Amino acid sequence: MFSVLVIHGPNLNLLGAREPEVYGSMTLDDIDRSLVEMGRGLGLREVKTLQSNHEGVLIDALHEARGWAGGVVINPGGLTHTSVALRDAISAIRIPVVEVHLSNVYAREAFRHTSMISAVCVGKISGFGWRSYLLGLQALVDVMND
Ligand code: DQA
Repeated sequence: MFSVLVIHGPNLNLLGAREPEVYGSMTLDDIDRSLVEMGRGLGLREVKTLQSNHEGVLIDALHEARGWAGGVVINPGGLTHTSVALRDAISAIRIPVVEVHLSNVYAREAFRHTSMISAVCVGKISGFGWRSYLLGLQALVDVMND
């Protein structure tokens, strides 16, 4: 039985109010609730969720996940495109990490087409709104069960 950590990066605490035409009207609490519920359905021991606007908090959470989680789903927000430190943390922990984005980053500004973390993640899901998280969790569980 696995546990999973879901990480939401900067500004995702504003979901629902933040550019709803891009990110949808679901709040972060709504998304977290559906992830926890889906985790139960998938037979996971636990789905823990964490949002922070601080890079170091996300990195600490990734390090700690080594001790208790079978895998991680992460939406690093804007840090996706800039953070070598986040990439290094993902590559250091050696548990499967799935990258997710609500929006289709490739249909947006060029700076969003680069991800610092994609190469160290098992895969990436982008463009399905709140469903990206659920698709990411399903994909992660499939990989953990391989
Ligand atoms: C995002 C896409 C990023 O480019 C942006 O900075 C975000 C959200 C998404 O979920 O679509 O904060 O990760």
